Amino acid sequence: MAKRVLVKFSGEALAGESGFGIESGILDYIAMELKTLVNSGIQVGIVIGGGNFIRGVSASQGGIIRRTSGDHMGMLATIINGVAMQEALEYHGINVRVQSALEIKEVCETYINRRAMRHLEKGRVVIFVAGTGNPFFTTDTAATLRAVEIEAEVIIKATKVDGVYDKDPAKYADATMLKHISYEQALKDNIKVMDDTAIALAKDNALPIVVCNMFKKGNLLAILKQEENAIYSKVSN
Ligand code: GTP
Repeated sequence: MAKRVLVKFSGEALAGESGFGIESGILDYIAMELKTLVNSGIQVGIVIGGGNFIRGVSASQGGIIRRTSGDHMGMLATIINGVAMQEALEYHGINVRVQSALEIKEVCETYINRRAMRHLEKGRVVIFVAGTGNPFFTTDTAATLRAVEIEAEVIIKATKVDGVYDKDPAKYADATMLKHISYEQALKDNIKVMDDTAIALAKDNALPIVVCNMFKKGNLLAILKQEENAIYSKVSN
């Protein structure tokens, strides 16, 4: 079983049906899923996107907001989500710390790798917010960077789909899910699960990427325990 993982959730997932903001039922569900990992002795880092509030790229599309500012707004959105998730985890009795790539010290700690490592060793969940602290990088890239930095054995991209398909399952009825796909293939086929920067970073560091459906209860733990019934796709060497 993996000892240390980084789980990336999309911001949109937190919004639920409404597509905007945070639905407390979903926060609660995620916290309970993560609790099963923590209770199994797995050290957990988390990154959450900010798309339930703002997307840097979309914000800048009207031409009024520059991409750099749009991305800064997106980073702030991830802080909101991280603080909310901290509350949900604490509600369930899990020790948690939030670390931000942008200094906002009245709200949470600033990202310090060695400190994050100590928190993880002590069994605390660490939520990494504000992306990489730089515009033009996605939260997927931030998640991959943090996963590499904290020496996670795997990064789990928790999505709304079961895994990676050979073609878009929303468009093609005969699309099949791929159990395994190499980094090269993932880059060549331009699979939509992660952007190229994130995949390239994972490849350079031989960090396996697992793509799975966050709404399948018990699936995260089943994946990490390598159980037969676990449903996921894996991108690795
Ligand atoms: P240990 O050193 O292992 O005991 O970790 P700790 O995180 O419990 O110790 P610390 O005394 O550093 O932190 C106590 C609380 O203050 C924790 O909830 C931290 O998240 C929080 N904290 C620490 N540094 C900061 C900061 O710069 N800003 C904010 N907002 N909170 C902080």
